[in-house]
Amino acid sequence: MAAEKKINQPGDNVPRHIAIILDGNGRWARRRGLPRTAGHAAGSENFRKIATYCKNIGVEYLTVYAFSTENWKRPEDEVKTIMRLLRRYLNEAIDTMERDKIRMKIFGDVAGLPQELQELVQKTDEISKHYEGFQANICLNYGGRDEIVHAARRYAEDYAAGKAQGRLSEEQFGGYLYSAGIPDPDLLIRPGGEQRISNFLLWQCAYAEFYFSDVLWPDFGTDELDKAIEAFRRRDRRYGNVK
Ligand code: IPE
Ligand code: IPE
Ligand code: MG
Repeated sequence: MAAEKKINQPGDNVPRHIAIILDGNGRWARRRGLPRTAGHAAGSENFRKIATYCKNIGVEYLTVYAFSTENWKRPEDEVKTIMRLLRRYLNEAIDTMERDKIRMKIFGDVAGLPQELQELVQKTDEISKHYEGFQANICLNYGGRDEIVHAARRYAEDYAAGKAQGRLSEEQFGGYLYSAGIPDPDLLIRPGGEQRISNFLLWQCAYAEFYFSDVLWPDFGTDELDKAIEAFRRRDRRYGNVK
């Protein structure tokens, strides 16, 4: 019997760049009578699955929001556990990157992360230089406004040093963002039931298609991603023009 055709196969019209706000870990755990931190562990496991799936169906970039500049407000215990999970995740990811030739980039204010995480970020940058193809971007200590302010400061420094000439263009400014050189997301997915952007990719999502789902992130499997991509295919992207 022929294998059932999955909705998405390489070569199908899949978004080139998908961005996901990984939300709903805490509620997922609470519903099971578990501590919120168990939800973060389940969420990080799901990220692994979704990233592999994206690579297999021909998505070029996957950008996920894992820890925001506002998430430091959470109880110390929860923040500590998240940092520990991130450390473990990045360590394991380094092995996977080398095995599967995956590029990985961290978007965010890396200087504000614990030392050990900063070293892992450097390592992933180093490894990524050797590869081409699928790229996962993980947003850590990331805020959209923070990113724009950082970019403005760096531009001002270059300008003062005579390294930036002429009138600043949108394209030039984009080159100062964490996402420099990466195309804007085509599809932004937020699982977890909320319909807001929570300071994610404010500049880059100017023309992204938004998809919201009530499914909590740890349960947002490949079937849910297929649904999001299906919905994306039905959208009519006009970019301000008429059709
Ligand atoms: C997302 O899940 C993970 C982080 C923001 C670190 P949450 O922890 O926000 O889960 P909910 O939204 O409280 O369920
Ligand atoms: C957004 O989720 C940030 C991340 C997923 C990293 P939050 O749970 O922090 O967002 P709010 O508080 O619901 O806006
Ligand atoms: Mg949340």
